[in-house]
Amino acid sequence: MTTQTTHARTRVGIIGAGPAGLMLSHLLSRAGIDSTVVETRNRATIETTIRAGILEQGTVDLMVATGVGDRVRKEGSCHEGIELRYGGESRRIDFPSLTGRCVYLYPQHEVLKDLIAARLGDGGDIRFGVTDVALRDLTTDRPAVTFTDADGTAVELRCDLLVGCDGSQGISRFAIPDTLRTDYFRAYPFGWFGILTEAPPSSDELIYARSDRGFALISSRTPTVQRMYFQCDPGERAERWSDERIWEELQSRVAGNGFALKEGPVFQRGVVPMRSYVCAPMRYGRLFLAGDAAHTVPATGAKGLNLAISDVAVLSQAMERFFLDGEPNLLDSYGTTASDRIWRAQHFSWWMTSMLHRDESATDFDARRQLGELDTVTGSEAGRAFLAEAYTGWPTALTNPGAAAAEALRLTAGRTP
Ligand code: DHB
Repeated sequence: MTTQTTHARTRVGIIGAGPAGLMLSHLLSRAGIDSTVVETRNRATIETTIRAGILEQGTVDLMVATGVGDRVRKEGSCHEGIELRYGGESRRIDFPSLTGRCVYLYPQHEVLKDLIAARLGDGGDIRFGVTDVALRDLTTDRPAVTFTDADGTAVELRCDLLVGCDGSQGISRFAIPDTLRTDYFRAYPFGWFGILTEAPPSSDELIYARSDRGFALISSRTPTVQRMYFQCDPGERAERWSDERIWEELQSRVAGNGFALKEGPVFQRGVVPMRSYVCAPMRYGRLFLAGDAAHTVPATGAKGLNLAISDVAVLSQAMERFFLDGEPNLLDSYGTTASDRIWRAQHFSWWMTSMLHRDESATDFDARRQLGELDTVTGSEAGRAFLAEAYTGWPTALTNPGAAAAEALRLTAGRTP
């Protein structure tokens, strides 16, 4: 069958309607810059897929500053600390006294719902359910993305700039030739078994637990739905576990001091791998990478979404300068600017993971050293402040999303595109 190709045009073509792609499209639209978002999944899948739930203060500040913060302010819950639990006891890290900031529990798919509603409400162009996505002419000044629309129409979308926001399994980063691309990668010998359970909260704050049986994380979603994880074999098959066995495992990892989790029926379960990855460079010709397409962190510490948002806060500013002033310098330095925060987050996520998980190949020395490390972190203000600063997000001038948004608003105030 021969199909006719529809030719379309936009300034910025964005591959992927996850946090990076949607927030970028939203920030660009506030600066009067057109974009089209191309996404293989359908809207319902995006709006219901369960991911992490912690937003840094800067992420929330950016949402509020750019008009997509109403629901997170009403429905998100501010968390002023976490508990590190080991040796049968919890030690609290208090964020406001150490950093002046807090974090918000507000699930990723809720952020995506807010961004999709804002984009569609502003007349934005999001193509859900497309297939056959391919990138073309990246080293010319008119790159293109081609795809088949949900209704079967073949489309060629010409752009000034393209951005790959298609996550760790996406195609975009492979458009950077192997000879030019460095893949920094680390796999961990464990995964996370995640559950949703219908039960009341077991704790007011998140609990990150290290035990001889391995790591566990006690988080929450609503007063009646809780989110919990425990370290497992990366090849574990979630469907093989009975509710009873799941609860036994979770309870054993947080036991001590008479503490017990409140149990309920498990209605969702799955295993996620733990990986660290950074792609360098984050640009090839007129293609830029942002979010998980450019880097992945292991989930411990919940940096993934926040890093995606800080990437596009930097990138949207650079694009504004490029389109509104014809100034390419910030685009040229995007990778260097973004990588400062990316590598800090890589270190933090690796560090939290290593400190709290059980490694089968660890010696008795390693296990005892882990406890020494936890005592060092929780036992002094300097140790607690190190963790709190990273967990709530580093407020550096260029990479703090809140500051970047404020700067972006200042730059674009009163300007007609
Ligand atoms: C959640 C996930 C994380 O990886 C984390 O560090 C904290 C919370 C969550 O899903 O609630």
